[in-house]
Order: sequence, then C-alpha cells, then structure tokens
Amino acid sequence: MAKSVYLETFGCQMNVLDSELVLGQLARLGYASTEDYRRADLVLLNTCSVRQHAEDKVYSRLGEITKAKQRRPEMVVGIIGCMAERDHDGLKTKAPHVDLMCGPGNLNEIPSLLAEVVEDRQARRHSLAIALEQDHSRRTPAAERTRIYDSIEALDLSREMPADGRVLQSYIRVQRGCDKFCTFCVVPFTRGPERSRPPEHIVEEARKLADLGAREITLLGQTVNSYKYAEGAGGPGRTVTFADLLQRVHEVEGIERIRFVTSYPGDFTDDVLRAMRDLPKVCEYLHIPAQSGSNAVLGRMKRQYTVEQYEELLVRAREVVPGISLAGDFIVGFCGETDEDHERTLALVERVRYKNIYMFKYSPRPGTVADRRLPDDVPDEVKQRRHMELAALQKRMCLAHHQAMVGREVEVLAEGYSKAAIKAQEAEQSRGQEISWKRSDQLTGRTRGDEIVVFTGPESLIGEFVRIRVTSATALTLHGEVATRPERVRSLSVL
Ligand code: SAH
Ligand code: F3S
Repeated sequence: MAKSVYLETFGCQMNVLDSELVLGQLARLGYASTEDYRRADLVLLNTCSVRQHAEDKVYSRLGEITKAKQRRPEMVVGIIGCMAERDHDGLKTKAPHVDLMCGPGNLNEIPSLLAEVVEDRQARRHSLAIALEQDHSRRTPAAERTRIYDSIEALDLSREMPADGRVLQSYIRVQRGCDKFCTFCVVPFTRGPERSRPPEHIVEEARKLADLGAREITLLGQTVNSYKYAEGAGGPGRTVTFADLLQRVHEVEGIERIRFVTSYPGDFTDDVLRAMRDLPKVCEYLHIPAQSGSNAVLGRMKRQYTVEQYEELLVRAREVVPGISLAGDFIVGFCGETDEDHERTLALVERVRYKNIYMFKYSPRPGTVADRRLPDDVPDEVKQRRHMELAALQKRMCLAHHQAMVGREVEVLAEGYSKAAIKAQEAEQSRGQEISWKRSDQLTGRTRGDEIVVFTGPESLIGEFVRIRVTSATALTLHGEVATRPERVRSLSVL
C-alpha cells in the first residue's frame, strides 16, 4: 500500500520551493501527499527561524503532532528546514519524539535519513537521523551536496506536480544562502554562504517548467540581484551577472512572465533596470527591502547603504522602468530605534509610495550580531504601536495605489477561483449539492505589477492572460471585468 506524507510549510517562498522538491523526492519513494497529519505515515514540518513567532508556531504544531504520535507510534516525525539547522539541540530536548532532522542545505539526504529511521526501528532502537550543514562529520561534503541537490532541482525536476500535472507558475532558485550578515538576520546561519547556481541549470529548469505549461516563473534568491556565476571556471571565462541571467531566461519559449525576489539595494545595478525595461517578459515589479528609514538604524543593521542611496535607486527605477511597482520590507523596534528614527521610516514609506510593504517587529535571533552585541531595548508595546502606525500608513498607501488604477486596463494571468468563489463552492458541496465548477464564477489573478485582481469569468480562462478593466478597488484587491473577449472563449455565452 502507498505510504502517505503530511508536509506543512512555514516561512518564505524558498521553503515553499524546498517543500515541493522534498515531496517530489518522496513521491519517487512511493509516498502520496495527505492533508491529514493524524493518518500520515510520515509527518514533516518545513520550518522557519526568521522570527521567534515563526518558531513558536512550529512548537505549537509539534505539540499536536506529539499527541497523534502517542496514538500511532509507528508514525515518523521529521523537522526540516531552518529550525533544524539553527535549533537542533533545543528541538532534541523539547521534542524528543522527533525521528528525523534535516537542514535546508541537506534536503537531498532525506531518503537516506528515512532509511536510517526504518533500520533503527527494525533493530528496535530509537536514535535521531540527522543531517545538518554545520555538521562537518556528515557523509557528503558541502560542494558535492550542493551539486547533488542542484541536479535534483534542475535536471530531474523532481518537484511535486499538481494533481492535473499542469504547472502555471513556478519558483526557480538561482542562488542559495546569503553572505550579507545583516546584524538582525539568522538566514546566513541557517542557509549558509551565498552560492549561485549554474545558469544552464536555471535555464534548463525554466524550459522543463515551460514544457509542463508554466507561463510565469519567479527567480528566487535571498539577494537575487547579487547573482553571479563564473563560466568556464579555471579558463578565461566570463562572469554571468543577474542581468545576463534575465536575458537567458527570457529566451525560454513558453514562459511569458519573469519575476524575481528578493533584491538587495546595496548591490543593485542599473543593468538590471535596463533589463527590466528591455525584456518584455520581465515584470515591472521590484521587491526591495529598505528595513528602516533612518541611517543610524541602517548602520546598526549593517545594511551597507544609506536612505539617500536607497531612494536614489528607486527614483532611477521609476525613470528607467515606467509604471514599476515597488514593494519593501521594514523592521520596527530594532535595537536603539528612537521615535525620530521611526518617524523617518514613516516618512520614507510616505515618499516612496510603495505598492505594498511587509512589516515586522524586531525579534532577536540567537547567534546574530545584534543579539550578541546590541540590547533589545525597545519595549514590546512601543514595537506594537510603531507596527500599527506603519500598518495604518500602508493601508492608506495601498488603497491610494489601487484607486489610481480604477478605469485602467491591465493584463492579468488568471490563476484560479477567488477565495470567495471557493468558499461558496465548498458551502454548496457541504450542503450536498453538486459543485458547479463550470459556471461563470469569480476568478482571481495578478497583474504584471503583482496587484491581485478579482473578476467574473468562465473556468476556461484559468491559465490564460486576460485583459481586465479595473472597476473598483480596496486596499487589498482590485475588482474588474473582462475588457476584451479572448478569441477562444467567444463561443461561450457565460461572459
Ligand atoms: N533577503 C531575504 C530576507 C529574509 S528575511 C528575503 O528573501 O526576503 C525576510 C524579512 O524578514 C527581512 O527582509 C526582514 O524585514 C525580516 N526579518 C529578518 N530578520 C528579522 C528579525 N530578526 N526580526 C524581525 N524581522 C526580521
Ligand atoms: Fe538576511 Fe540581510 Fe541576507 S536580511 S537574508 S542577511 S540580505
């Protein structure tokens, strides 16, 4: 009988991609995905360490899983991802029933870790099967492991596929790890040093995804624009820059939209802006975290740029790439942040007029420079207040950004049913009615600038690019109607 795996993902897009790759490897071992951890043979949590809150969520989930395991001791429980790498000792004491731990750089070792668990059980032993980047005694050396994992990723394309085998949007990793060591951030410790993947692997992966139907790909890296790869190593090769990589991926037929996250302001060069302008598939969207609007705070964060340099970059981005939409990350309440510093952050956000910002309360991470050297001296209620002020500003800004789009026509990649439509369908189903998937329904998709659009249309539009006239806006979404009837749905009367 097929074995089942329940895998829950916490954290960033990199983790979402890692989970797909892990499920792909497990599918080859005969594991089918399940939504119910209570019945699963294997339960994996792909974890995040970026803030304490993310780790707390994993611990509370582990509490529930422990109860399920008490009822079904044959269940195998594994912690993978950043928490395994960062806090394996803590996990060993707080969660002794865990059978397997695996850091984000070792995910290709999961099949052998599972084999170890099985062997232990057959011998009636319980020992933890563990593979971590920092464990220098482990079987496969780092370079070899990166190579193996890279080929799993690019060449076998062993990621999990949707049930209908069709992929619409997909992530491609272009870079692992991070070398920036911002003083607040745990990522360089959990994901290791920055390594760019060979461009031919990235292009190959894009081609294979295009063959499976992918129309949009998102290139992933912690500092994606810092990508560089020396071709013809040892010889007179040249360095492939991020702008070159965009150009190469742009040539892949079938891919119609290219996005990339996350950009690091310090290394951002104008050739990337020109590539965004000149390559029609590259979307006019830039996620470029500022973290703070105060130079004093940026200095303590070791972000390696000033507010002025950051803003000049965004001014150039708007000049070179007309209509570009900008998103950013901000941390409130970092060590030593005063009310004046916070005002500077608010003022920066006000000046830039982002499409969206993501904001976080500073959370000290063990092992980071900030945690070792700088006191976490902003009281929680102050962090809370600053967070709320920034959130209120963001809401106002998003609404203004969206309202300015009312009346315009935008290109939307229809991704699926809107949340409201899915809810209505589920309600129909729970009342025992047939689900009417075929009728004209609320669909959702994104613009090139990453705005979410909800509109009415037939199911056949899913996976297509549709021109939508924006009719109204909220802070979160745009509402619109199909502007031109695409040729292939003309025969349907539902529009
Ligand atoms: N370059 C990465 C950054 C990873 S962390 C990327 O792909 O986005 C994502 C965001 O979390 C950061 O931009 C930062 O705003 C926030 N963050 C990181 N460490 C944090 C901490 N210790 N406390 C609060 N927020 C943090
Ligand atoms: Fe973290 Fe700074 Fe790198 S935020 S991921 S150390 S660029």
